[in-house]
This record gives sequence, C-alpha cells and structure tokens, in this order.
Amino acid sequence: MSNKPLLVTCGLPYTNGPCHIGHLRTYVPADFFVRYMRHCGEDVVFVCGSDNHGTPIVISAEAEGITPREMSERYNEHFDTTFKRMNICFDRFGMTDDPINHDMTKEIIQNLIDNGYIYKKTINQSYCPHCKMFLPDRYVEGICPYCGEKARGDECDQGCGKHLEPGEIIDPVCKICGEKAELREQEHYFFKLSDFAEFLNEYLPGLKGTLNARNYASGWIKEGLHDWCITRTLNWGVKFPGRDDLVVYVWVDAPIGYISFTREWAKKTGGNWEQFWKGDAPVIHFIGQDIIYHHCIFWPSLLKGSGFRPPDAVIASGMVKIDDRKFSKSRGYVVWTNEDYLDLGLPADYLRYYLLSYTSHTKELNFSWKEYQARINNEIVDTIGNFFYRTLHFTSRKIGSIPKTEPDNEITEQIKKTIEEVDKSARNYEFKSAVESVMSLGNFGNTYIQSNAPWKLIKTDKTATEQVIRNCLQVVKALTILLDSVIPQKAQESWELLGFKDKVKDHSINDALTGFESEVLPEPRIIFNKIEDERIEEFEKTLRKRVNEANLKENSNIRDENMITIDEFAKVELKTATVLEAEPIEGSKKLLRIQVDLGDEKRQIVSGIAKFYKPEDLKGQQVIVVTNLKPARLCGVESNGMILAAGDEASLLTTKRDVSPGTKVL
Ligand code: 2FM
Ligand code: ZN
Repeated sequence: MSNKPLLVTCGLPYTNGPCHIGHLRTYVPADFFVRYMRHCGEDVVFVCGSDNHGTPIVISAEAEGITPREMSERYNEHFDTTFKRMNICFDRFGMTDDPINHDMTKEIIQNLIDNGYIYKKTINQSYCPHCKMFLPDRYVEGICPYCGEKARGDECDQGCGKHLEPGEIIDPVCKICGEKAELREQEHYFFKLSDFAEFLNEYLPGLKGTLNARNYASGWIKEGLHDWCITRTLNWGVKFPGRDDLVVYVWVDAPIGYISFTREWAKKTGGNWEQFWKGDAPVIHFIGQDIIYHHCIFWPSLLKGSGFRPPDAVIASGMVKIDDRKFSKSRGYVVWTNEDYLDLGLPADYLRYYLLSYTSHTKELNFSWKEYQARINNEIVDTIGNFFYRTLHFTSRKIGSIPKTEPDNEITEQIKKTIEEVDKSARNYEFKSAVESVMSLGNFGNTYIQSNAPWKLIKTDKTATEQVIRNCLQVVKALTILLDSVIPQKAQESWELLGFKDKVKDHSINDALTGFESEVLPEPRIIFNKIEDERIEEFEKTLRKRVNEANLKENSNIRDENMITIDEFAKVELKTATVLEAEPIEGSKKLLRIQVDLGDEKRQIVSGIAKFYKPEDLKGQQVIVVTNLKPARLCGVESNGMILAAGDEASLLTTKRDVSPGTKVL
C-alpha cells in the first residue's frame, strides 16, 4: 500500500451515439483495477465524463434537429446510466461542456500563451463555396496525404490512422453538400508541440502503464513532431480567449476534462485535486489504443507547457472486433451494451468476466457470442458456480453450521499464492492473467472437494469431513473477495450466502485468509446460471440481421450515388448529323477524322472506329453526335464532339426514319 492516493481516469466517450461493447473494453478493466486497488487499501479517485465538443456531435445534432448541448445531455445521461448498469462506478462523471471545463481550458490556454507556446498563423483551410463555410475536421472528407486512403478532415480513420492538420487532406469534399471544397486562407492558433521533443524523450521512458503506449509514442517522436492547429471555426466548443469566432480544438478541452472532473470530485467531497495535477499523487489514464498519440504526446506536452504535471501511467487497450470483422456501426458489426445485452436480462458480470479474461489487454478482442457462451458456461458456471454451490449446499444440509476449526496450511498457502499472483498481474495491468490466477484457485477448490469427496467421507469420519468443508469454505470466501473486482454483483450475492451482512467491496484482500462472522449460513441457492444455446442463436441472428440490413443500405447508397437526375441528363446535348467525309489519321490504327453536317454548322470529330468501318462506307451515314463536349485533341487532331456507337465492335447509332441533320435527340 502506498501513502499517496491514486487518480484513475477513463477516455471520455463522445456524446453522439450509444454505448457499445467496444467502449467497455477500456472501462471494465479500469473499474477492475480501481476495485482491486481499493481492496488493497489504496485510496483511489475514479473520474470520467463525456466528451461533448467537436464536429461529430454538431453534425449528429444537426441531423436530428436538436442543439449539440441537448444531444450531449442525452448521451451523457445514457453513458452515466449504462456504466452504472455495468457496475462501473465513477466518483464523478462530468461533461466537458460544463462551465468548470470552459474555465479550466481557458486558464490552460492562457498559461500556454503566457509561456510562449502558442502562435498565430494564416493557413489554407477547406472551405465550401456552396455552403459558404469553412469546413473543420469531420465536415470535410478526402484522401490522406500520407497513405492515400479515404480519410476524414482530422484523421486518416481508414488507413494509417495519422492525425491530419486543417488543410492537409487531399481532394477535400464538403460533407454537408458533397461539393468539391476549395482552400481559403484563415488565421488560426498553433500549439508548439515541436518544442516538446526533448521533454518527451525524457518523460516517456519513465511513463508507466502498458508497453504499447510507450513504444508507439517513442516511435512517433523519432518521426518528428508537428505543431498542432488548436482552433476551429465552429460555434460549439470552448471559445479561444479573445476570439469570439474561434473555438479550441476538441482534443484540447477533452483531456482538460480530466482535471475539471477531479476538481468537481474535490468540491463535492472536500478532497484535494491539486495533489494529482500539481503535486506528486499518481495519475493513471485508461484509454483505447487509437488515442495513444493524444495521451502520450499531445496531452503531457500541454500539461507541461501550462505548468501542470504530466500523467504517470497510460494503459491502452486493444481494439474490439465483432465476429472477426472490424467494429463498424455503419456496417452493422456492433453489439450495443443496452439494446443487445443488458436489456435482454444478461448479467453485467458475465460481460465483465468475458472482456477481462478473454485476451490480454493490449491485444485485439474478437467478440463472438459462441465464445462468450463457452467462457461463461465452462468457467464461471461450471468452475466457480459448481464449487460454491456444492460447498454451501453440503455445509447447510450435512454439517448445519460453519465448522469451528481453522483451515489447513495447504489451503492458506494456496490462497496466499493466488493473492500474490493476482497482485503482480493487476499492478502490471495484465488483467487476463489476474483473472486466470483467480480461476486456478476455483479449479483447485473443485479438484479438492472432488478428491476429498465429503459426501463419502461423512459416512466414516465426521471430524475429517468438517475439516474438508472448512477448507472449502475458506476457498469460497477467498474467491468471493478476489472475484469482487471482476463480477461485483455476483460476488456480493455470494458474500451474503457466506453469512456476511456488509459489503464485500469494503473488505481488504487479506480477509481472504480470515474467518467467518455467523455460524449458520443462509439457505444456499444457485447464483450462476448457464446461457442456453437458443439464446445465443437468437443473439447471433440479431447480429446477422443488422449486418444484412447495413449491406442493403450500403448497396442502395451506392446505387443512389451512381444515379443522375433528369436535369443532369438534360445537360448532354445530342443531335443527328450526316457524315460528309472520313479519312484515316496518320500514325493511328484506331482513329478516323470525320467531317459531319449538323444542319447549321459543320464539325470535325475524331472517332475510334477505324477498325470497324472503311472511310468511304461512312460517307452519307446518319449518326448521333454529342455536340456539347469540350474540344479535345486526339493524336494531335482536334475533335469537337463524339459519335455514339454501341458495343465492342462500335455499331453506330442512327435514326429509324430519316430526319434532317441537326435535329435534337431527346
Ligand atoms: O476518442 C474518443 O472517443 C475521445 N472522445 C476520447 C477523449 S479522451 C480525453 F482525452 F478526453
Ligand atoms: Zn458544402
């Protein structure tokens, strides 16, 4: 136990859509860690909140006809409630749009200005002449200048994942109207991130947490640091000091939310927020792997430059896949936490167990309902559930009360060994290993009760049976305390079945080795139930249906994109014409130079039909010509139109009856 309190934070969810299990990959392990540290006697403050600013929220709110604040309040409430349903319990869940965070952000920006880390620069920004507005971040789409993939204005989300600065994207297109955007000059403010390379080189080797965070960040510094444009032309966000027309970039005020929420916690509890951000009490961030740059490069520099202390640890979780496919709301590969899970009556604890134990924290997690079912049924229900119920049932039916004897050495040693293993793993942020150690103790318990067979032993030796049962009860108690960080609801139920009246979460990990309070246990009951095959089939069906619907929608969008309106078609001018003359073009086997009569004018057209027609056969033929094509030069010969032909062998289009040359084709 250390004598300093810890501050643990989780990445802030954007308030433009509901919670899905991809989100939980960060929050569940953070909650596990907080609970576990508290069992070890640590004083932990756990804060989070919602990330309300930025263009995605403005765009979603506009689409629904509500204000970004209304949308933010709706989803703030949603995340707060969902996290509570998942037993993820924050000491403060705030909003980045709340006044305290506006003030805190302005204070930090002012410090950065005073310390010389912010400068003004005129840059080229995407601008939509049709919508008459600048296009910050997600208002614009185009091509990533680094990898050539389709990208959003502020990040290459489908390719290399790089952060893109305003004006960097290639071939920008307005997200609102789909028109080509242009570049226009605008004055913006920049943060001198490039000044912090030396600081980061010293800071990063000592940054605790997962290796992926430290390694990625060190690699990026080697690639060189670019200054960040930290203002945007938007009405929604924290106003840049002294500029009513600009707000700060969302990635500035979002992490500052961590400080604001700590201050809100301090205000409510009389706690001290400065010990974390200005003193030496550790700050630990849990985040998704996609935002390592923001937390290990940008955020520490922002803090350092404004007189605050950078974080001590960053724990970055791997991303979530669904059925081996990249998580995607638009493609239907998504499992919603409420709609697809909690609302169907599935236990929050089972999902917590699955997320914590399935794969190492930094690896990709491939969610599948089948795997979920196998894990829950074979591990939680068969191992833990079975052992708990057998022990409690036997105690109640055959012994009547908790035997008045101490557990054997073999048992206490086994528990101590488990505690040591769990402690090492948890402090190294290896949650899967921590859970595996707990489950090994469960397996030990099962094997122990099976091989000692108290149901047989009782026929010959009551005292020996009581010792076996006392040993089993101790293992159940230890498992209950150890499992509280993983499956808190079930652990509390088990705690009460062991005769305790208080909360298991308030007990020290060392109580895994101490005795019981009451002699007689309550009536035992089964607390872990299997997930039936039919239910899993139902969930898989829902997922498949969603993916199919998303496919259909995408196909119809593609069809829509390829359609043109009657007005667009009417732009093409088609007329009949009579061929006056045709001749080969020197140096070309494909092209003919053709003179046509269009009634009130004569034209020269170059056409690629030389392989299929002799020049002399064309003379006098009636053809259809596109007359409003921009002139082009083919093989150095000017062409003023196009003669229409069908198929690979260029069958010329003509009219069924003779009409005079120059007649419009409609
Ligand atoms: O990537 C995201 O979802 C952001 N909303 C995370 C913000 S974390 C913090 F820095 F505010
Ligand atoms: Zn536009």
